[in-house]
Amino acid sequence: MPESSHSVESLYVHVPFCAQKCSYCAFYSEASSGELINRYVAALVREMEMVADDLKPRTIFFGGGTPSLLNLKQWEQVLRAMERLNLNRAAEWTVECNPATVSLDKAKLLRDFGVNRISMGVQSLDENLLDRLGRIHSREMVFKSFDILRKAGFENINLDLMFAIPTQTMETWQATLTEAIAMESEHLSTYEVIYEEDTPLFAQLKAGEIDVNEDLACDMYEELVRRTVNAGFQQYEIANFARERNSGNGETAKRGDGDPEIPAFACRHNVNYWRGGSFHGLGPSATGYVGGVRTKNWSNTQMYCDQLEKGKRAIESREELAPLARAGETAAFGLRMVAGWPFQEFQKTTGHDLRQHWAEDMNRLIEQGWGKLREDRFQLTEQGLRFADSAAEMFLR
Ligand SMILES: C[S@@+](CC[C@H](N)C(=O)[O-])C[C@H]1O[C@@H](n2cnc3c(N)ncnc32)[C@H](O)[C@@H]1O
Ligand code: SF4
Repeated sequence: MPESSHSVESLYVHVPFCAQKCSYCAFYSEASSGELINRYVAALVREMEMVADDLKPRTIFFGGGTPSLLNLKQWEQVLRAMERLNLNRAAEWTVECNPATVSLDKAKLLRDFGVNRISMGVQSLDENLLDRLGRIHSREMVFKSFDILRKAGFENINLDLMFAIPTQTMETWQATLTEAIAMESEHLSTYEVIYEEDTPLFAQLKAGEIDVNEDLACDMYEELVRRTVNAGFQQYEIANFARERNSGNGETAKRGDGDPEIPAFACRHNVNYWRGGSFHGLGPSATGYVGGVRTKNWSNTQMYCDQLEKGKRAIESREELAPLARAGETAAFGLRMVAGWPFQEFQKTTGHDLRQHWAEDMNRLIEQGWGKLREDRFQLTEQGLRFADSAAEMFLR
């Protein structure tokens, strides 16, 4: 099997705290006291110590929750531990931030320790919609925090935007797009609203208080692709857009991961994920994928801390798929990327030949106008990408 006896090159860390829960969000996080956060930080450092020998991260991603909610002291504890464990030299190191919890001190601290990419949850630049979503920040805070991040030296910033938000019109979406594009970030991640069970937004939907308009959502997506591409972004995944150059100094970042069809400022951490690479996942509810085994940590911060305080990892479940099934999942996932699957790369990652086991499925997609075969790869067409979930399902074994 091609799977590694060598080091894992990606690290995801889940920070399970938010100042307040947004009305749509089902990620594992809670509003919490400083005491539990301190306990979490100590537990996280222990978990890092347990995997450090097996880890040489090229990409690191601190997601959440709201990693920027940790205070300076807590961040310093995490960063010093990472330095001590030699986990601080990633080519790409992202931290997710909420615009309400960014300060110059914190941004500089992160930058000084090697964090070089920030992903900021903007969602919308319309005050009413921010309110509707239960966001704790204003539109002004978005602009202010963005300036702070630039001032602290971040030259690779992503903005998260949401569309098809209840009551959002095409006009408000266009206005947000115009302003977000004018900020000249290097990357945009976009999300169509998902009505997740056990969220206030889901309850409103069930109570008939929300008018879902799928045609408008499709039009908003088309507008998004048109506007971002016109503004010089390259769409490299269904909902992710990156620049080829840094807008500040015009330098081209080192191309990610050897595929010339992936733009320089693509999120390399996610590219590794979509292309079936392994990664350690630390923190409550985090998933990991190492040596073909998928693990999931307990989605309970107290329990997570209890386990680590006893010197044990906090793994709730382990799942090992048969190699062909695993390759099928990897095929399906990678097709979300516009660059599709280079055959060689697929073989290297999974040990299987895409052209051998999935020839019929690829032909069917080509006949349908959803797939495109090239000399070195298979990819979805523009239309195929719209229906990527259905297309990808064909590859599961
Ligand atoms: C973990 S959050 C990002 C960072 C930070 N917690 C924040 O919100 O500012 C990742 C992103 O997922 C998106 N998201 C979360 N829940 C969603 C949902 N139900 N539907 C669509 N997008 C969602 C939001 O755009 C959010 O920024
Ligand atoms: S969207 Fe971000 S800030 Fe809002 S609850 Fe989810 S993780 Fe927390």
